[in-house]
Amino acid sequence: MIDASDRYAPRPEDKFSFGLWTVGWEGVDVFGPASRAPLDPVESTYRLADIGAAAVTFHDDDLVPDDATRDATLDRFGKALADTGMRCEMVTTNLFSAPVFKEGGLTANNREVRRYATAKVLRNIDLAASLGAETFVMWGGREGAEHGAGKNIRAALDRMAESLNLVCDYVRSQGYSMRFAIEPKPNEPRGDILLPTIGHALALISELEHPEMVGLNPEVGHEEMAGLNFAHGIAQALWHDKLFHVDLNGQHGPRFDQDLRFGAGNLRGAFWTVDTLLGGGTSRAYDGYVHFDFKPPRAEADDGVWESARGCMRNYLILRERVQAFRADPEVAAALVAAGVGELDEPTLGEGESLDDLRAASYDVVALGERSVAMEALDQLAMEHLLGAR
Ligand code: GCO
Ligand code: MN
Ligand code: MN
Repeated sequence: MIDASDRYAPRPEDKFSFGLWTVGWEGVDVFGPASRAPLDPVESTYRLADIGAAAVTFHDDDLVPDDATRDATLDRFGKALADTGMRCEMVTTNLFSAPVFKEGGLTANNREVRRYATAKVLRNIDLAASLGAETFVMWGGREGAEHGAGKNIRAALDRMAESLNLVCDYVRSQGYSMRFAIEPKPNEPRGDILLPTIGHALALISELEHPEMVGLNPEVGHEEMAGLNFAHGIAQALWHDKLFHVDLNGQHGPRFDQDLRFGAGNLRGAFWTVDTLLGGGTSRAYDGYVHFDFKPPRAEADDGVWESARGCMRNYLILRERVQAFRADPEVAAALVAAGVGELDEPTLGEGESLDDLRAASYDVVALGERSVAMEALDQLAMEHLLGAR
């Protein structure tokens, strides 16, 4: 239950959203079986509303794993959404668990598998549309390889592009209001996954037939597994108008996908992530759902599952407060000027100037080499805001 006097209490306008598979993770890993009993996804929907979420998301198999129970579950789920006022804002397809997808789904070498995967996605798009979900995530967990010659990467990219073109055409033909968001990941479960980073996915999108319908769903941990700076990655996605959705969680550097709760792991990275989502000092903010994709650690019992979910939202709100205080601090404003941050907005070539003018100008390279950049002072202010020392 939400305590309204708590300044970190989540509110509907915060647009917090959770994958049903997150709290529903039973703790199965490569070294052991489930450590927690299954949760009923409809019950989880009520529970997430109770703790302050505004929306839920799911893979087809999280909610409707079989046809025998599909209609009854969808009725119960629809009632849960109506009872709680929650949205189902995003849907995604499980093309990675069943053995049929062991060598990929949309880019499996086997054509029957690719056709079956495509049919599964199309059916799930219909379900997403019927629930009013406007974002459809494509995470290609099994779209990859462990070997060299076993996968023709250029052919796999042809098939990935073909699949995206087909689903875009389908959504247009049905008149659905839906966009696709590719979720990059460098590895796990495949040794190497196609479209491993934000940059790879952005490049593929520009080759599609309907690039305006396809954007990104970047995940903190996935970029950090590749040693990359998540805040920089989403800033570039925003620059391309491609940040359609986001998966927030925590990660301790390049290692297996930890899916920690948001704020755990790389805390400084989380501060700059929130800053970037809020605009990073520009007017270009992210206005979509703040979606958490974490796994409550396997050692936790049910109480820890919900503690972990609450922690994601609470850490986001605490960080948002710190970021806003940082951006509002007059000393920070002065430090930004001292660091010349605003100067970068000015084009390198002046209006009406020619390249000859630029080449003919004289530059005091010694003084420029000796100039202060004042960035440590600015960063220290950020650190002090983050640590609650200001
Ligand atoms: C992961 C992935 C998945 C996807 C999800 C969406 O942790 O490897 O993030 O959780 O987000 O399957 O399709
Ligand atoms: Mn992950
Ligand atoms: Mn994810």
